[in-house]
Amino acid sequence: MSDGKMLLITGASTGIGAETARMLAAGNDIVVHYNASADAAEAVARDVTERGGRPHLCRADLSGEAGCEALHAFVAERFERLDVLVNNAGGLIRRKPVREFDRGLMEETFALNVFSAMTVTSRCVPLLEKGRDPSIVNLSSIAMRHGAPGATIYGASKAALDSLTRGLAKELAPKIRVNAVAPGVIETPFHEKVTSPEKMEEFRRATPLGRNGRAADVARAIVFLVEDSFVTGETIDVNGGLFMR
Ligand SMILES: NC(=O)c1ccc[n+]([C@@H]2O[C@H](COP(=O)([O-])OP(=O)(O)OC[C@H]3O[C@@H](n4cnc5c(N)ncnc54)[C@H](OP(=O)(O)O)[C@@H]3O)[C@@H](O)[C@H]2O)c1
Repeated sequence: MSDGKMLLITGASTGIGAETARMLAAGNDIVVHYNASADAAEAVARDVTERGGRPHLCRADLSGEAGCEALHAFVAERFERLDVLVNNAGGLIRRKPVREFDRGLMEETFALNVFSAMTVTSRCVPLLEKGRDPSIVNLSSIAMRHGAPGATIYGASKAALDSLTRGLAKELAPKIRVNAVAPGVIETPFHEKVTSPEKMEEFRRATPLGRNGRAADVARAIVFLVEDSFVTGETIDVNGGLFMR
């Protein structure tokens, strides 16, 4: 077994998860999890190898329990411990105004953003308990703080994940630290289907730092939380000042 860290990053095929895998690659074993984007995931695996890491590609649809169980089984078969779990897979699915409330969309959104992270986390706890300075990072969102028209359900799902972060931080202390990052508007494939270029420009103009975020801006915060040893139950906002607490 390697002397490096053992990491699981969900949704590591594109955007924030992919950039986090690249930044954390050197010397480490990383499960590069993906679902639909096989080519992109393979490219990330090559980048991890180039940076001196050992990628382990795993495909699983985390919107259902079976996919979460399969991902855990994949990790447990290869790793004798887990040092880092980044619950990053997620998304908005589609925008919908409240007057067109769609129970199915709410179930799908919570399955993808909340049930997945909680299931994967709970299954991975025994492996994390054997880890070295183990920690979990959840991907929350600016949408859980200030609401977003058409994305109310998505915001609520990220609020749930944010709350799980604090509950888990207490429940799993002192061995396992649990934190979250709440990105603002980040230019990744996330927005390709759900945000028009005009809306992206509107977000940019409203942001005090004068630009939308990049995947690397968020990945750096994740790396900080992984490498730190005295922060737990915290959510770091990475949004260029678009929303200030
Ligand atoms: N971009 C933003 O502005 C923003 C803002 C706030 C929060 N976030 C959060 O940040 C996280 C990463 O998003 P991103 O911006 O990097 O977007 P992204 O590039 O679209 O990445 C989303 C990742 O989630 C995976 N995923 C989607 N559906 C899945 C499913 N059913 N099962 C398993 N994996 C699935 C995707 O895998 P495949 O493509 O392989 O299916 C992909 O790797 C998400 O949780 C998102 O909600 C993003």
